Amino acid sequence: MNNNKPLYEAIEKYRAAQVYPFHTPGHKGGRGAETELAELMGERALASDVSLMSELDDIHNPTGCLQEAQNLAAQLYGADVTFFAPNGTTGAIHAMLLGTLVPGDKILVPRNAHSSVIGGIILGGLRPVYVMPEYNEELSLSMQVTVEDIAEAFATNNDIGAVLITSPNYYGMTADLPAIARIAHEHKAILLVDEAHGAHLGFSKRLPESALHCGADAVAQSTHKLLGALTQSSMLHIRGERLVSEQVAAAMNLVTTTSPNYLLLASLDCARSQMAAAGKTLVERAIKAANKLRIALVKIPQLKVLDKSIIGQGGVAGLDITKVLVNVRGLGFTGVYVGQELRRVGIAVELVDRDNILFLLTYADDNKEINEIIGKIVLLFMTLVASQRTIMTPANYKLQLPRQVLLPRVAFYAGKKKCLFKEAAGEICAEQISFYPPGIPIIVPGEEITEEIIGYCQELKEAGIPVSGPKDSNLERIQVVKK
Ligand SMILES: Cc1ncc(COP(=O)(O)O)c(C=O)c1O
Repeated sequence: MNNNKPLYEAIEKYRAAQVYPFHTPGHKGGRGAETELAELMGERALASDVSLMSELDDIHNPTGCLQEAQNLAAQLYGADVTFFAPNGTTGAIHAMLLGTLVPGDKILVPRNAHSSVIGGIILGGLRPVYVMPEYNEELSLSMQVTVEDIAEAFATNNDIGAVLITSPNYYGMTADLPAIARIAHEHKAILLVDEAHGAHLGFSKRLPESALHCGADAVAQSTHKLLGALTQSSMLHIRGERLVSEQVAAAMNLVTTTSPNYLLLASLDCARSQMAAAGKTLVERAIKAANKLRIALVKIPQLKVLDKSIIGQGGVAGLDITKVLVNVRGLGFTGVYVGQELRRVGIAVELVDRDNILFLLTYADDNKEINEIIGKIVLLFMTLVASQRTIMTPANYKLQLPRQVLLPRVAFYAGKKKCLFKEAAGEICAEQISFYPPGIPIIVPGEEITEEIIGYCQELKEAGIPVSGPKDSNLERIQVVKK
């Protein structure tokens, strides 16, 4: 495997040449950086915060080191073409939708899609058809979409142009992508996958297969989430004959800044090189660290730790065991409270909700500290067990699909008025409401607000989960479409 780092090496060469910069960025290689920023970043990072020099290629028309770096990433992941996405997976998803569909196209979207998918639907003027993922009442978790539901959606809509699946979901559960790809392709639709949480898949037989190897036509991955790239650095991969790569490249250009941060781009090159050199070993290390935590937590009978026995239920075809999802309801405390208690002892988790907490582990957790940290986590749980309270009934996060009155794009651009959220039943929502994490929309622009949605949001707010999307982040008021 090639572990050259063409982009990183070009930056290093440019820095070593000590060219005097009569150009952006204004801090001029760190010469003018504010003292604390200079200390924070370090001399070398600031000197590598370079601009669009010809030696460093052009993300909008790559032909040199950046193109080479993207080609190496494509080779590693088995893509025909890979694009670096310094605007995160959000940007990659927007480009994936803008570059593969045309305004008015119908897209089949499971309702557990991330808010960036809804953003792409608004930008692209697409017509969403939603399918509800299965729901696990015992764990209060949204699972995956079933193959049957996808087939049913195609049976009732003969003009679907694309299916966009989030796989794995936030909790590591993958969908049956080979079967979904088969159905989509039989109906001349393309399969797009939001694999934000899956850049490490396919490197171990103990993890689910990567979407690209399950027949997906385009896959957006957050290299920064589970691998070693800097935050915001993602990739978009495409494969096969169904897409026009020039159109996807043009869409990437639409959503990508003309001043990409080369530290982010270099981090993609380095993360790819790291995986090319030792991907299998690194992923095994992630699994080893996650298993240590899992083994320690399953010994506490009040906790339920999600494991591979979930496969085959609720549309789940595989589980990424580097995510350790713990249902803490048996303690009589909420996930939010347990998250706060963990934070108090110096441990931060990826996600909390009323009943669950999610530990995200990577190869970087196979380190000297991990045994001690797991000891601290177990100790905290034992303290909570000792002060055990009455066990609550499972949180009900199951929602009916709201009625779509207007297309998301039409509602986004419609005349709006503000009203009290608690009195908004019957109004057409002009904003997107999610709770973050996981950032899955409860209602999107164009849908009718119901009493059920109002009550549901109220419950999540009371559980202490932060609202994301509406202008009023307290969700006292909401923008609705003027009738
Ligand atoms: C499933 C999913 N898709 C897309 C995104 C957006 O990714 P990014 O933060 O890289 O823009 C996220 C981020 O949390 C996500 O969880």
